[in-house]
Amino acid sequence: MKDIEYEFWIDYIHKIGKKHSASFDTVLDLCCGTGNSIIPMKKYARELSGIDLSLEMLRQAKNKGLERIVNGDVRALPFKKGFTLVYSIFDSLNYLIEEDDLLRVFKEVKRVLIDGGFFIFDMNSIEGVKYIARQKEIVEEDDEIYSVWRYKLSGDVITLYLSVFPKNEKDGDRVDEVHRERGYSIEKVKELLLKAGFRPVVEYECFTNRLARKGSKRVLYVAENRKEKF
Ligand SMILES: C[S@@+](CC[C@H](N)C(=O)[O-])C[C@H]1O[C@@H](n2cnc3c(N)ncnc32)[C@H](O)[C@@H]1O
Repeated sequence: MKDIEYEFWIDYIHKIGKKHSASFDTVLDLCCGTGNSIIPMKKYARELSGIDLSLEMLRQAKNKGLERIVNGDVRALPFKKGFTLVYSIFDSLNYLIEEDDLLRVFKEVKRVLIDGGFFIFDMNSIEGVKYIARQKEIVEEDDEIYSVWRYKLSGDVITLYLSVFPKNEKDGDRVDEVHRERGYSIEKVKELLLKAGFRPVVEYECFTNRLARKGSKRVLYVAENRKEKF
């Protein structure tokens, strides 16, 4: 994640959020990982909480300034209604491989958002995961590690086999990880958001002001928890 411009990413989320009149008062970082976006988001959020399934990732998120940090599963959020904004970045929700699980997450997010609250997140589309899989194998090197990234595509699901080799013995042994993500079409994500009760839903070509189109690889979704008027 070293090369990722989190400041730029969060400024973008803020710009799009403000365009839709989202409030950054009580904010939840869904799948916050090691908390890379906490410091940039602290510029905008009055109160910031984070949740992630991985204890190892959360250990690194500690002391970065979160008001609340929770080790938990986004399919069953351990929070009450009260957030003005829930956001999730870096295709975290693509880790929900089953459509039913993604729907569960959307319903949970709706439950914890105040009326008029916003849910802003990005996801890789099917074209997005296919594009990543075309790379097949990448080897990277920096001052501390070598890393080998191998991709395998099966249907809409991409599996990343990642091996990290520390250059310095004192940094420990080789680490192997497997990451699995499913690409979701814009139609499917919108269908599930509407099913969960969000409306309206707007989708952008990620990092731009333009609406996403068929073929967009990374899509930013903006969904409002607006009470229906009768
Ligand atoms: C690609 S990382 C992104 C982390 C962070 N958003 C960032 O941009 O640095 C995906 C994160 O999703 C988390 N995750 C995956 N499935 C989850 C689940 N069901 N509940 C909570 N966190 C989950 C992983 O532990 C991981 O930290």
